[in-house]
Amino acid sequence: MNRITIKTPNKIDYDVVLNNSFDQLEEEFNTLGLTDRKALIITDSIVGPIYSEQIIQIIGKCNISAKVYTFHAGEESKTSETVFDIYDFLLENNYTRSDLIIALGGGVTGDMAGYVAATYRRGLNFVSIPTSLLAMVDSSVGGKTAVDYNGYKNMIGAFYNPKLVYANISVLNTLEERHFYNGFAEVMKSAIIKDAHFYEWLIEMMYEICDKDYDTLEELILKTITIKKLIVEKDPYENGDRALLNLGHTIGHAIESTKIGCMLHGECVALGIVAAAHISYKKNMLSMDEYLEIRDMFVPFNLPITIDDIDKDLIINNITKDKKQDNEGLKFVLLKRIGKACIDRSVTTDEIMEALKEIEYIDELD
Ligand SMILES: NC(=O)c1ccc[n+]([C@@H]2O[C@H](COP(=O)([O-])OP(=O)(O)OC[C@H]3O[C@@H](n4cnc5c(N)ncnc54)[C@H](O)[C@@H]3O)[C@@H](O)[C@H]2O)c1
Repeated sequence: MNRITIKTPNKIDYDVVLNNSFDQLEEEFNTLGLTDRKALIITDSIVGPIYSEQIIQIIGKCNISAKVYTFHAGEESKTSETVFDIYDFLLENNYTRSDLIIALGGGVTGDMAGYVAATYRRGLNFVSIPTSLLAMVDSSVGGKTAVDYNGYKNMIGAFYNPKLVYANISVLNTLEERHFYNGFAEVMKSAIIKDAHFYEWLIEMMYEICDKDYDTLEELILKTITIKKLIVEKDPYENGDRALLNLGHTIGHAIESTKIGCMLHGECVALGIVAAAHISYKKNMLSMDEYLEIRDMFVPFNLPITIDDIDKDLIINNITKDKKQDNEGLKFVLLKRIGKACIDRSVTTDEIMEALKEIEYIDELD
C-alpha cells in the first residue's frame, strides 16, 4: 500500500491511497470520521454493475446507507443535464450537507460527481474512488471538477477537493485495453513535462506496463501522482506553472470537441502532444530527433500519432475560443526538451495549421 498526502490552500489536506484491494477502505472512512450518514454513489453503467455492491457492503460497516445513481457510460453524459438529474435525485432523497458523494468510476464520473459535490447545497463531503488509469493518475488529484457545455469541454466547473482518494489498482484488470492506454497518455505527458528520468523508466518498463504488472503499475501511478502533487500544491488554481499540465490539451481538447463519441481524451492529448512537439521543433526549441522520439513513443502504447478526417479550420476555431485564450493571447505549452516544458504565447494560427497538417493522416493510395 502507498499513501500520498496532497496539501490544499485551505489546509484541508487529503490522502491518495493506492492499494491492491478495497480492504483498507473501511478503516479510511473510520479514520476520517465519515461514518453514520447517507451516501450517494455516482457511477456509470459499466463500472456500477461490477463494483458498487462491494462498496455498499464496505461502507455499510461504517453505518453509511448508500444509494446508487447510475448514468450511461461515456463523455456524452458529462453534461449539465445529468448534473440537474442528480440534483433532483439528491433532493428527492433528502440529502443534506453532512451527507456524502462518492465518485466510483473513471474521469467522467469523477469530474461530474465532484462538480455535484461542490455545488449541491454549496458543497458536501466528497470521496473519490477512481477506477480508470486516467482517473487514478490525473483527474482524481488536483481538485478540478467540470462538465462539458454546448460542445465545449469542461466549460462549467469548480475547484473542489475530495476528503479521500482511494485507488484499488487491481480494478484495472476489468478496464478495456483502449481505456488503459488512453490513461497512459497522461502518464507520458507528466514525464515529458517534468521528469526525463521517469520518461526513460517508462521506455525501459514498456513490456511490464503493457503486461499490467502490478508492481510496475503501482510505481507508475505513484510517480505520476507525485509529479501532479508538486505542481498543484504550488499552483492550486492554475495561475502559473499548473498550466504546464495542459501540454497537448489545447489542440487535444479542440480535436476532442469535434470527435466526442469516437475519440478518447487521452488519445486526443497524445495527438495534441505530437502537435505541440512539432511546433516546438519548428521554433528551434526541440531538435528533429527529439520531436521524432516523442512522437514515436506513443506508438507501442497504442496511442495515435496521426488522425484522419479532421476539420482543421473548425479545430483552429475551437482553439481560439478555448478558455486558455486570455487577454495576453493564446496560452500554449511547448517543450524545451524532454522533461522541460514552458508556457509560450507566441504560437500563431499558421503554426497550429502546420502542426495539424503534420498529424493529419493522408492515405497515399487515395
Ligand atoms: N479533472 C481533471 O483534472 C481531469 C484530468 C484529465 C482528464 N479529465 C477528464 O476525464 C475524462 C476521461 O476520463 P476516463 O478516460 O477515465 O473516461 P471514463 O470515465 O469515461 O472511463 C472510460 C471508460 O472505462 C470504463 N471504466 C472505468 N473504469 C473501469 C474499470 N475498472 N473496469 C471496467 N470499465 C471501466 C468506463 O465505464 C468508461 O466506459 C474526460 O472527461 C476528461 O476531461 C479530468
